[in-house]
Amino acid sequence: MVKLVIDAKKCEVPVGTTALAAAREVGIVIPTLCSLRALRPNKACRLCIVEVQAPGLEKMVAASCDLLVAEGMEISANSAKIQKMRRAIIQLLLAAMPDNIAVKELAAGLGVFATPFAVAKRDACALCGVCIQACQEKIGVSALSYAAQGGKAADAVILDAERCVGCGACANVCPVGALTVQDKNDKRELSLYGETANVIDLVKCQVCGAPFATEKVVDLLRQRLKKDALTLDAVYCPACARERNPAPCFERAAI
Ligand code: SF4
Ligand code: SF4
Ligand code: FES
Repeated sequence: MVKLVIDAKKCEVPVGTTALAAAREVGIVIPTLCSLRALRPNKACRLCIVEVQAPGLEKMVAASCDLLVAEGMEISANSAKIQKMRRAIIQLLLAAMPDNIAVKELAAGLGVFATPFAVAKRDACALCGVCIQACQEKIGVSALSYAAQGGKAADAVILDAERCVGCGACANVCPVGALTVQDKNDKRELSLYGETANVIDLVKCQVCGAPFATEKVVDLLRQRLKKDALTLDAVYCPACARERNPAPCFERAAI
């Protein structure tokens, strides 16, 4: 176990705990945007920053979602300096996504209701990268990437419809709803920034007839599982699969 102090609260947590998790353990709220349990920290949003003083080291600012606690650490999760830095970060996000409800709520929680920065005409994206990570690391497809034009910094995410299998994992992890997924008329539609980015046919359950997964997802699983017996004739939706207990059952990817 590791003993440390966060905002004057003593806590004791297992080795390997992040400062973010330790803070939550003792009821201290730290805002986050890009932190998801299923994905390794990518430190993109920086909203979870804290000031940390480890024994024998200089005080520094670090992303708490990727900071492992150490014996004797003193962490300030809500100092004046940290609050000022967080407000500047959320003001930038507010400028990039002025109409986004999730961003507005996050900003309001930090006492920010306006931004001094030039406001985008149209909501962009938090560029947190968790959709790219989910697609690459969890689904193994890599259909999403940052778009950078003319040597400038990336300002959007793009989707390669050919590669995309339509699992929906990216939409499930997007913290601001910039990527969405919807099943309608036997098709799955993925939208990015409010525009259709991909439409893929859904496969129907052989028992109840409900459309539930894309053919590309079924094909991908068949390749990965390498089971000859796994044919489309033996594909059941999650509900029917549970009743019959065949393996595997195809559910929309949820991370
Ligand atoms: S739907 Fe799945 S495969 Fe397509 S971009 Fe999203 S995570 Fe990648
Ligand atoms: S689309 Fe969503 S998940 Fe992907 S980078 Fe933008 S805000 Fe993050
Ligand atoms: S939540 Fe830690 S950097 Fe985004």
